[in-house]
Amino acid sequence: MRLVLLGPPGAGKGTQAAYIVEKFNIPHISTGDIFRKNVKEGTELGKKAKAYMDKGELVPDEVVVAIVEDRLKEDDCKEGFLLDGFPRTVTQAENLDIVLDKMNVAINKVININVNKDVLVERASGRRVCRNCGATYHIVFKPTKAENICDICGGEVYQRSDDAEATVSKRIEVYIQETQPLIKYYENKGSLVTINGEQDMDHVRKDIISALGE
Ligand code: AP5
Ligand code: MG
Ligand code: ZN
Repeated sequence: MRLVLLGPPGAGKGTQAAYIVEKFNIPHISTGDIFRKNVKEGTELGKKAKAYMDKGELVPDEVVVAIVEDRLKEDDCKEGFLLDGFPRTVTQAENLDIVLDKMNVAINKVININVNKDVLVERASGRRVCRNCGATYHIVFKPTKAENICDICGGEVYQRSDDAEATVSKRIEVYIQETQPLIKYYENKGSLVTINGEQDMDHVRKDIISALGE
């Protein structure tokens, strides 16, 4: 199972990724999570990425591609993987194809989660994330049982700095310019399935699982 999750910021990629990787027992590779971990640890990569992330812009292609290429070579990716938030530009997609060709494998399905802009802003601005384990919540749609405390690990739950409304709007603009063209790219390859992401989380999950033929 080699999968890509495509969709605008706040569409529910991370939320659905958690279900998919559990069901298929494959690693979850989120470039956003990799950058946030590096920001938290204060690495050189983290310092570089933070400047772009805070503005809602994309980290340069060559930086992202090199990270994903290294990650895909790790042993746990042999039987499959789920890419979340990568590729995000046509250049990234072309480079991914080159990397996978060298490995003699290919993407099975690209799951495109479709959600309109007003819903995206509501989702992103209400999102809360666990600082410790990365679990994702929403103040209305998926609240924590105890206020600001992660249900899973007891860690502190916080708001991502790029979830401020102005930054979310910028991220949506960048998505339309840079990432939306990938829908055509993967449609042409015959691997795209589009899912209605405006349903509740369980229905989105069921549609994805059935699109994967399970
Ligand atoms: P990244 O972390 O990838 O962010 P994103 O693509 O903007 O997507 P999000 O994580 O914001 O949304 P999501 O779709 O995962 O939604 P979620 O499940 O959390 O990237 C961040 C930054 O890193 C980028 O801006 C860029 O700077 C950099 N970057 C990363 N990858 C890069 C790349 N490849 N190239 C260049 N730069 C890169 O859900 C959102 C909220 O909605 C949650 O609160 C959730 O609980 C709720 N929710 C989810 N589903 C539902 C539902 N069905 N009903 C109701 N609520 C729901
Ligand atoms: Mg995410
Ligand atoms: Zn947690």
